[in-house]
Amino acid sequence: MKKTIHLLTLSALTLYLPTAFAGHEYDPDNAEEINEVCAGCHNEFGQGGKQGKYPRIAGLPKNYLQKQLLLFQDRERPNMPMVEHVEKRQMPLADIEDISTYLSQVELKTKLPPADEKAPGFNAYARLEEAKKLMQVPRAEGDIEKGGKIYGRECRSCHGKKGMGKGDTPQLAGQYTQYLWRQVKRFLKGERIHDEDAPDEELLKDFSKEELRDIFAWLSVQDD
Ligand code: HEC
Ligand code: HEC
Repeated sequence: MKKTIHLLTLSALTLYLPTAFAGHEYDPDNAEEINEVCAGCHNEFGQGGKQGKYPRIAGLPKNYLQKQLLLFQDRERPNMPMVEHVEKRQMPLADIEDISTYLSQVELKTKLPPADEKAPGFNAYARLEEAKKLMQVPRAEGDIEKGGKIYGRECRSCHGKKGMGKGDTPQLAGQYTQYLWRQVKRFLKGERIHDEDAPDEELLKDFSKEELRDIFAWLSVQDD
């Protein structure tokens, strides 16, 4: 019975998404103000932190961000630390729309171009500011080559060629490995639904720990 309700809510949510925000005009000032709250955990540019205790949220697809915020709000996806921040009173639909637009547009760099301090116009301050927007996932343990092969066969069709996401499906490369592992557990426990077209067939259930470890190793070097 519980499952039926859950599925209904999810499909209602999906139907509702494209029309929910129709007519809302993006308000970047409001978005920046909201981001100050998010920054408390996810960092100033949404790059996340504490080795993935807080995931990267910058540059994820807008519809994906909206959907996750609604799932948190409806307690369909567990996230205790965020509960008070996503309550309906705290975060009306217009705010969800604004912060999702804002974050989806943040581009993080993985490295800085070589510095030429003698070049005319070199600006040390600007460079320092740029450096704050860097995010590089540390190399994760595992067999990169094997992982790349499994990824290409099993994940690429949805998560994109280099793990960088595709359409509304989020990127896995450029995301903290520890966070990804935590989501694997959530999928396997049924706390999150991976593929709404086949909610009872968890995509990751037949992979061994080694296979997932190798996939994550491959993903962790895609941003090198
Ligand atoms: C008190 C800390 C905290 C604050 C403040 C916070 N978050 Fe989070 N957020 C988390 C944690 C922890 C997770 C990871 C939950 C998990 O492991 O599933 C998360 C996950 C997310 C995710 C899911 C990312 C993904 O890849 O699926 C999104 C989106 C998100 N937060 C957006 C926001 C936004 C927008 C704000 C500001 C309105 C915000 N968060 C404020 C702690 C916080
Ligand atoms: C049929 C398409 C599909 C395939 C194949 C697929 N995924 Fe996904 N994956 C998704 C979608 C869609 C989401 C976002 C789910 C949501 O909306 O909450 C997702 C989310 C994830 C997440 C959570 C990301 C986050 O930011 O929270 C992880 C981890 C993940 N997938 C791993 C994998 C791995 C590893 C493979 C290959 C073994 C894989 N997926 C194959 C569609 C797919």
